[in-house]
Amino acid sequence: MPKLKTSHFALFCAFSALTFAVPVSAQSVVGSGVPASTVPNSAERPIAFAEQAPDNAGLVILMESAELPNIPALSAAERGAVEAAIASAEFKGETGSNLKLRGIGGRPLIMLAGAAKSDDEGPDWKSAAGSAVQKLMDDDAELALVGPTDANAMADAALGLDLGQYRFDRYQTDVETVPAKQRVTFVGTAASAAQALWDSRHKHLADSVKLTRDLQSEPASALYPQSFVDRVSAEFKGVPNIRIEILDEAAMRKMNMGAIVGVGQGSPRGSRMMVVTYTGGSGAALALAGKGITFDTGGISIKPNKGMWAMKADMSGAAAVMGATLSLAKSRAPVNVVAVAALAENMPGANAQRPGDVVRTYGGKTIEILSTDAEGRLVLADAVQYVADRYKPFALVDVATLTGSVGRAVGNQYAGLFAREDAIADRMLKAAKDSGERLWRLPLHPAYAKAIRSDIADVKNSGVTDAPGASAGAHFIGYFVDESLPWAHLDIAGVDWNNSTKPLTPKGASGFGVRLLDQLARDWTAK
Ligand code: BES
Ligand code: MN
Ligand code: ZN
Repeated sequence: MPKLKTSHFALFCAFSALTFAVPVSAQSVVGSGVPASTVPNSAERPIAFAEQAPDNAGLVILMESAELPNIPALSAAERGAVEAAIASAEFKGETGSNLKLRGIGGRPLIMLAGAAKSDDEGPDWKSAAGSAVQKLMDDDAELALVGPTDANAMADAALGLDLGQYRFDRYQTDVETVPAKQRVTFVGTAASAAQALWDSRHKHLADSVKLTRDLQSEPASALYPQSFVDRVSAEFKGVPNIRIEILDEAAMRKMNMGAIVGVGQGSPRGSRMMVVTYTGGSGAALALAGKGITFDTGGISIKPNKGMWAMKADMSGAAAVMGATLSLAKSRAPVNVVAVAALAENMPGANAQRPGDVVRTYGGKTIEILSTDAEGRLVLADAVQYVADRYKPFALVDVATLTGSVGRAVGNQYAGLFAREDAIADRMLKAAKDSGERLWRLPLHPAYAKAIRSDIADVKNSGVTDAPGASAGAHFIGYFVDESLPWAHLDIAGVDWNNSTKPLTPKGASGFGVRLLDQLARDWTAK
């Protein structure tokens, strides 16, 4: 083993499950057996809080308007020069706008970053900081960030910066500029209170979003059901009040989980169900179930080539529920959560399931497979029945990259929300607003329930003509959820991946759902 610095050792361990599967012979391993990377992502800017800006640090000034706030770190002459630049650039301080200045005073750079929002909901410190750090990715100066004054605002800015600076570059060996990794200090009189908030909550939320993004970004050659289990288990190691249950195929077969095992039967990589319970409060738990298709070829109903690579992220729901649970557990939130990841690889193969096959699920209900590409609802059918039966939650939220249809309906600014009752829908919408991860409610009309009935089994997984696609998928999952259990379904197929960079979500995996579900669980504990 190479000599490693201790600080790198933990990261090394976390990745070793993905990268150090030593092959015996090409025939005895799944995949080539040659790991494509043995390193973690490049180091990011560490985050600190202080009452005074470090000397020689570049200054990032978050601005609520065009007016320069009072900044002790600036001399009168520097202040005058910055104000002149604001005027000549007509900088308005709008969220996401930036102005980079050099040659003022002794600082290597001064960047102005807009935090003003058009509505009157107050400044968007998160986006301002996230956008600023993205503009300074190639500029490896140490930074001091000023502007937000109270502890919450400072910690929010730190969260935004940390989410914005995320990168997934562990496979890149030939880069011109290593992304910036010098420290950023959030400066203000509330520094110690902000530090406490960061250490107890915001940092864990940011780290959990990044875990979810890492899982989404990993190619399916590295991330398959068992390696997902290994990686997520490693993240939970040592975290108090956590219990992990892993079901392999034999265990699932014993419980008649024909739907999830059927989806995975065309792949040499075995399916898994991973259940993580976090007990931080009392009473029943909130259940979170995530679709975890580590790659979706469509199976025998194979997908066309175009864009198929993106199906490596078809486990985004599973990654999100695990990320949210990790955040809640690490910040010791007073809640009970049970998260289940329904993990399988959907491949064609000699043993793959066929259109027309019928499978039996955990609770005994049967499904006719009309398309092997409607596999997410299959793995979830077993997962939601299992978690409801064994863990008796007070409510259930499932999260899935379920349909292309949802993106055509609501685009990439909202995930689709489906719920039978207004009460749970309203809770979800409130958590969406408070977390900044937006939802749009779509119909679960009883008339669509009939459309999923099968001629020869209880329900069919596709070929539904009398309902919109995303609603048909939601109804299908709902068929396996008892009417007495409050339930919501999130279709995140339009929001799991960003085609362009946004302040809090760089191009690529979005980590959608972690902030939303973290917020939801904190607001909604069993009474
Ligand atoms: N994983 C896909 C849905 C998807 C599409 C996610 C695009 C992200 C981006 C899902 O398994 C699927 O194939 N859905 C089918 C369902 C159909 C066969 C009923 C679809 O949407 O076409
Ligand atoms: Mn599919
Ligand atoms: Zn899928």
